[in-house]
Amino acid sequence: MTHAALVELDSALAARRAAGLARTRRIVEAVDGTHLRIDGRDLVSFASNDYLGLAGDPALAAAARAGIERWGVGAGASHLVSGHTAAHEALEDELAAYVAPCTGARALSFSSGYLANLAILTALVGRGDVIVADRLNHACLNDGAVLARATLARYAHGDAAAAAARLAGSRARRRLIATDAVFSMDGDVAPLPELVALAERHEAWLVVDDAHGFGVLGDGRGSVAHFGLHSPRLVVMGTLGKAAGVAGAFVAAHPTVIETILQTARPYIYTTAAPPLLAEALRAALDAIATGHARRAHLQSLIARFRAGAATLPWRLLPSSTAIQPLVCGDAAHALALSGELAQRGLFVPAIRPPTVPVGTARLRVSLSAAHSRRDVDRLLAALAALAGGVEGARA
Ligand SMILES: Cc1ncc(COP(=O)(O)O)c(C=O)c1O
Repeated sequence: MTHAALVELDSALAARRAAGLARTRRIVEAVDGTHLRIDGRDLVSFASNDYLGLAGDPALAAAARAGIERWGVGAGASHLVSGHTAAHEALEDELAAYVAPCTGARALSFSSGYLANLAILTALVGRGDVIVADRLNHACLNDGAVLARATLARYAHGDAAAAAARLAGSRARRRLIATDAVFSMDGDVAPLPELVALAERHEAWLVVDDAHGFGVLGDGRGSVAHFGLHSPRLVVMGTLGKAAGVAGAFVAAHPTVIETILQTARPYIYTTAAPPLLAEALRAALDAIATGHARRAHLQSLIARFRAGAATLPWRLLPSSTAIQPLVCGDAAHALALSGELAQRGLFVPAIRPPTVPVGTARLRVSLSAAHSRRDVDRLLAALAALAGGVEGARA
């Protein structure tokens, strides 16, 4: 190859591979609940965010099929042109009533959480404004700050006092606090009550990314309901491709905030609406979430079972009470090797490496679902214990 630009790209890719940071996509050949077939092998997956097991639920599939009959497969245009159907409108009304972060809240649906975060941040702040953000926030909140051209002031993970200091130190006219509610690679929960109080004291918005809390915490309504919070300063983003089992996202907030996003946010305006069949499937998902007490209770029992069994493993089990249960191994190559060993034993647990997590904190991200059985969790614990024996042996 002679093209200099291609040579440069090739050497960057080679460096990534040499550092153990190259990503590969596994081709899933079949799915049956938490069981995946990859490379002809059946694996129990602890890799998805389908926390309630709704992705394969027959009621959602039936709603999607009825949606196809009624609407066809595509929306055909953006929401502000002709893509906004009665299915989207009904979904938004139902989400607003269900999540209800403030009196009279409205909701807006998106085709992805990534876009929703870009839309929120670009609509609410701009050049000269400040976004005070948890250091471990999801990448799309950071990317939203870049697109908004606001100053990004990051604070120590989970530290509301550090967030307060950032706010106090800023003279920006418009301020916004942004946090994941449940941190995607750590599983811990943000100090939302303290952050709401801060938002009110400093006249800031509090943007809560509830990608991993919606459907699970707050008896399904999400992290804001979990803490019983209610404020016109709250802007809640929830994703619909995780516990809701489908795809897309929503923003729920005060009607003025929602109207501002609808009128001004380019990531809302300049993209095709999600297929209405998905909105129909999501309405069925909302029903399943609202009545999903047994699924959530089963998930909680699996979380407790996993934590009890994993406490004695040689890897650091992070202090998480949610479905995300990371085991920190440190070294990226070690995490990758463990993930490979687990796959040999029929278990799919992804190794999460930098830059997704800080250098030196590569981990196995165990993600539990109501679709797992106790036997699945016990199998994982037994395999980890067997691998731990190898690690202890190597250390001795
Ligand atoms: C915390 C968090 N926010 C936002 C997103 C983006 O959501 P989506 O996958 O719908 O784009 C994700 C994951 O994908 C996430 O983990």
